[in-house]
Amino acid sequence: MNYEQTTFQKFQNLKIAKDVVILGIETSCDETSVSVVKNGREMLSNVISSQIEIHRRFGGVVPEIASRNHVMAINSVIDEALAKANLKLTDIDAIGVTYAPGLLGALIVGVSAAKALSYALNIPLIKVNHIHAHVFANYIEHHDLVPPFLSIVASGGHTIIANVETHNDFEILGQTTDDAIGEAFDKVARVLGLPYPGGPEIEKHARLGVPNIDFFKTKKGTKKDLNLSYSGLKTAVINYVNTQKQGLSVKCQMLDGIKITETCNLKPQSLQNICASFQRVSVDILLSAVKAAIKKNSSKTIVLAGGVAANSFLKESLALLCDENNISLKYPSPILCTDNGAMIASNAYFLLKEGKGLTDFTLNAKANLQ
Ligand code: KG4
Ligand code: ZN
Repeated sequence: MNYEQTTFQKFQNLKIAKDVVILGIETSCDETSVSVVKNGREMLSNVISSQIEIHRRFGGVVPEIASRNHVMAINSVIDEALAKANLKLTDIDAIGVTYAPGLLGALIVGVSAAKALSYALNIPLIKVNHIHAHVFANYIEHHDLVPPFLSIVASGGHTIIANVETHNDFEILGQTTDDAIGEAFDKVARVLGLPYPGGPEIEKHARLGVPNIDFFKTKKGTKKDLNLSYSGLKTAVINYVNTQKQGLSVKCQMLDGIKITETCNLKPQSLQNICASFQRVSVDILLSAVKAAIKKNSSKTIVLAGGVAANSFLKESLALLCDENNISLKYPSPILCTDNGAMIASNAYFLLKEGKGLTDFTLNAKANLQ
């Protein structure tokens, strides 16, 4: 039997197995995460080894450093995920892995580990799209959730609104034409001298501020398409901050003679108001596209996902919009919003169930997907 026949045979066996236990591997950015999930919804373990502290010194993720740290962490994270699930490698039925999109060097580490496990254990290997996978965190959190629904993925790399018809059927209705929402949070935070990742920092300061700054005249009126843009807002805020900084003393943090971060002493109240105003406009941009999507789509459920879904102001604003439209809103707990192996294992399960995503050892990591 060749590899494909073996994989197909294994898949047929899994289809009739009572429980399917999948090990999910995620290494697309700065989190090395491995999780064991039963039947796509029951999380037996979810180990996340974060590199945030390492990248914080540089004000953002340094790709080469991320790859090296994934290499150092991956084996122990796999061991820990199995131990926490109280299982052995031989108890695993299939391996799911993020193969795209993300940082290429970082993805390669997860893909290589997944191929090695699949080969050694002779079990199916399933390739998972990281953006879709974020939505699957909701199947773990909400055991009654089933498609169809409208989904919003708001992360550091992507901002999309998609119609999810069946588990594996994503129709993109709109997306950012430039920066992702999380990227805008991170870049604005950086110019404010706040540590990486910027999203939680901006949220923390925004709570104490008043959204009283008009960075630019937002266009009023109904949105015709569902695409969105964050680069205009980001630039307007950065220009505003730079003007405010004029005349203030600026502190630089150096590492080996290289400037890595720059902070200035904005008054706390100004910082808090900038954060509150930026957060409000960012959420308004997303909500105006969601309103347009609601008009075009009869779905009675909205599913929010991605790192920015951890933001309370976004969740509260979206909840109000959903209430007004008699729509039920679902989102995962914060630990399942940011990158994790559980969402990968869940996505792999629902792909496997339909005989999709099965791959052989020629699988390559991809930085971008069309
Ligand atoms: O989904 P994720 O972990 O990685 C990507 O796939 O990109 O998202 C990370 C992003 C970062 O930009 C981070 O600043 C943002 O999610 N984020 C937040 C919050 N927590 C994380 N943004 C706003 N508010 C938060 N509480
Ligand atoms: Zn992500």
